[in-house]
Amino acid sequence: MRLIEELEREHARIDRVVGSMRTWADRAVAGDAPAADGGKFMRFFEVYAGGLHHEREETVLFPTTWNDLGLKADTPPIVVCIDDHHELAALLQCMKSLLEKKALATAELREVQQLAIRYSHILWAHMDAENSVLFPEIELRLRHAGIRELPSRPMTADEESAAALGDLLIERYPPSDDGTIVRGEGCAMCPAYLAACSGIEREWWNEWEWEELDEHVAAS
Ligand SMILES: [Fe+2]
Ligand SMILES: [Fe+2]
Repeated sequence: MRLIEELEREHARIDRVVGSMRTWADRAVAGDAPAADGGKFMRFFEVYAGGLHHEREETVLFPTTWNDLGLKADTPPIVVCIDDHHELAALLQCMKSLLEKKALATAELREVQQLAIRYSHILWAHMDAENSVLFPEIELRLRHAGIRELPSRPMTADEESAAALGDLLIERYPPSDDGTIVRGEGCAMCPAYLAACSGIEREWWNEWEWEELDEHVAAS
């Protein structure tokens, strides 16, 4: 399905730019990178991650779950994803406000660095959950419902230039990994699991789907 493929491709770029922002933040605190480059990351995340990517998730992909698939609106896991988008936008706004200052003190750069760390942890876990659980589950259900495509749209000129800027930043600041977190697939890796969300099976599966699972387990 084209829209989901596009969203996954966008995840791949966003994932690397998040790692690149972490590299920049570390270097900026060490005095090895201009603080002004922080504004370039803000532009990428605002226009490409927020404007293009989250916008299409929220206006096209997520509504299809209650409009076409008969799942309940305003419930997990979708509501958890939308809350993440809001938290990410708020963190971005905090970083942006700090980075708009003409000159940043080291303490302020450290604050940006801490915000970047928080931002990366939320966004990486969010994309891992979407890639490994939410997107495949929605795609399968759409296929069963006979829906082969969802509306998409080409990038605007502004989004194209934000994408190019992201690629440039990846080159300038090779993405860092974070050894303090474990990333992986499935509900069990999602920070919301058993807190804000009971997991895809308990939230979405119907009686018939659970019965099929028993058959699969018995057959294995
Ligand atoms: Fe999302
Ligand atoms: Fe996403």
